[in-house]
Amino acid sequence: MRGRYKSWTPGFIYAHPEVSPRALDAADPFYRGDLVLEIGSGKGGFLLSLAALHPSKHFLGLERDVSCCGTAAKEAVEEERENIRFLNLDFDDCFEELAKLRFDEIHVNFPDPWPKLRHAKRRLFYPERLKRILSLLSKNGRLEIRTDNDDLYDYLLASYEEAGACILPPPYPEEECESEYEQRFKAMGKDIHRAFLAKKGK
Ligand SMILES: C[S@@+](CC[C@H](N)C(=O)[O-])C[C@H]1O[C@@H](n2cnc3c(N)ncnc32)[C@H](O)[C@@H]1O
Repeated sequence: MRGRYKSWTPGFIYAHPEVSPRALDAADPFYRGDLVLEIGSGKGGFLLSLAALHPSKHFLGLERDVSCCGTAAKEAVEEERENIRFLNLDFDDCFEELAKLRFDEIHVNFPDPWPKLRHAKRRLFYPERLKRILSLLSKNGRLEIRTDNDDLYDYLLASYEEAGACILPPPYPEEECESEYEQRFKAMGKDIHRAFLAKKGK
């Protein structure tokens, strides 16, 4: 379900460093205060909805696909939303800088399942990577995961302990913002798995 390349997006990102800076600089004052991260933010619908609901928090979307990232950045500019940024970066490539920050919430919505065993290391829930994601959480922070993929969900359930995580009960009230993929899968009648994780023994 890869989207097509949008040739205007690299130029848009270049012209809007206030929403889509080229690099992640953890010293930037934008990253002070309550922080929420989405890894693989796609076209940004989920994070934009959250940012509208919580104007006092700051939101960071990481998206390695330039067309998706540019589409999300354009929406943020059009909505004049100042508490959100979409960076056209791969999680692994900016981890060192990310590690200087702490996030109250991290969201991973409908990550690529990489179903072949030989590609397991590319999964966002590969235990080493899951460990890195969890290390970015603040003391009471939580990681929220959504997927329609039964096998990936089973893989997560088999991996989270090795990564040093524990399962939390769903927060109450559960927030109902949806990503583009979630809307698409729900329209197809698919069931969605949701998991809430924290660092064990925090
Ligand atoms: C299946 S799409 C889901 C998009 C969005 N979260 C949603 O639910 O609509 C997965 C997205 O994650 C992005 N992605 C995958 N691995 C990534 C990584 N390591 N760093 C940043 N983005 C990543 C892909 O480019 C893709 O846009």
